[in-house]
Amino acid sequence: MNKAELKAEIAALKKRHKAVILAHNYQVDEVQEIADYTGDSFALSKLAASITAEVIVLCGVRFMAESAYILSPDKTILQPDIQAGCPLAESINPEGLEAKKKEYPEAAVVCYVNSSAEIKALSDICCTSSNAVEVVNSLKEREVIFVPDKNLASFVAVYTDKKIIPWEGCCATHNEVTVDDVYKLRNLYPDGVVTVHPECRSEVTALADHVGSTNQIIKFAKETAAKKIIVGTEIGTLFKLKKDNPQKEFYLLSRKLICPDMKLNNMAKIKDALTYMQHQITVPDRIRKPAFRSLNRMLQVKMKRVV
Ligand code: 13P
Repeated sequence: MNKAELKAEIAALKKRHKAVILAHNYQVDEVQEIADYTGDSFALSKLAASITAEVIVLCGVRFMAESAYILSPDKTILQPDIQAGCPLAESINPEGLEAKKKEYPEAAVVCYVNSSAEIKALSDICCTSSNAVEVVNSLKEREVIFVPDKNLASFVAVYTDKKIIPWEGCCATHNEVTVDDVYKLRNLYPDGVVTVHPECRSEVTALADHVGSTNQIIKFAKETAAKKIIVGTEIGTLFKLKKDNPQKEFYLLSRKLICPDMKLNNMAKIKDALTYMQHQITVPDRIRKPAFRSLNRMLQVKMKRVV
């Protein structure tokens, strides 16, 4: 099947199954092109909770499909490539978190949405990269165990007077960006502005003009007067950035900004997902219910920055 045939087949299958396609900003271009909605983790969570559809094809990684199911268990959640996981989410297990909670019994537990359903179930509240500061500052506790991303934890620590106790995980892709990359690109494009994701190392975020989730980066790029924008997040984000701003130029901070898991989905796998209703993602109720509480509590937190 060529691309046009695949597209037509997917459209017919979507109609037949009352399905929508949600795609993360890191998905390959062909997936973002046919998606009904694209967005960051926060936007996709909100959509999963509110959208009217019987089937959601979640093009992202495992924790995103799990979150969609936790928020909308009455819908069928399909993940086109079942192998698409998140090594950061896998860097913490329930035993590790329980041990940390015993060490700091007074602390609240905030888990980054890049975590398993089990970790969400053991946490007080979830956050995404777009609302981590607001979520932490919304808590009454003075101490916060922040899992599993140490870089996002460091970013939050700058904007709160609470004691942040980080887990030692990180995103292998964003963690590759170095201060030398920032200096190099700033030298090449002295009139450019630098926008990075908070999963980057703290020394990198400290050098940036703007730090935000992928949707916040997309918003910043639209609003800035700068014509050259240096981007410190996964390469897939360039699709929307270029589409929204044809008159601007975008430069990726590092060639290493490619998440292999996010690249696993494609149009052919979406067609198969809708043809065979595969791969259905579910979470048992004993985990789903406490995980829902953490995710839903996050959705109630007031945001300062609009996404
Ligand atoms: P956002 O979806 O919040 O931009 O974060 C990206 C991400 O989670 C990839 O690891």
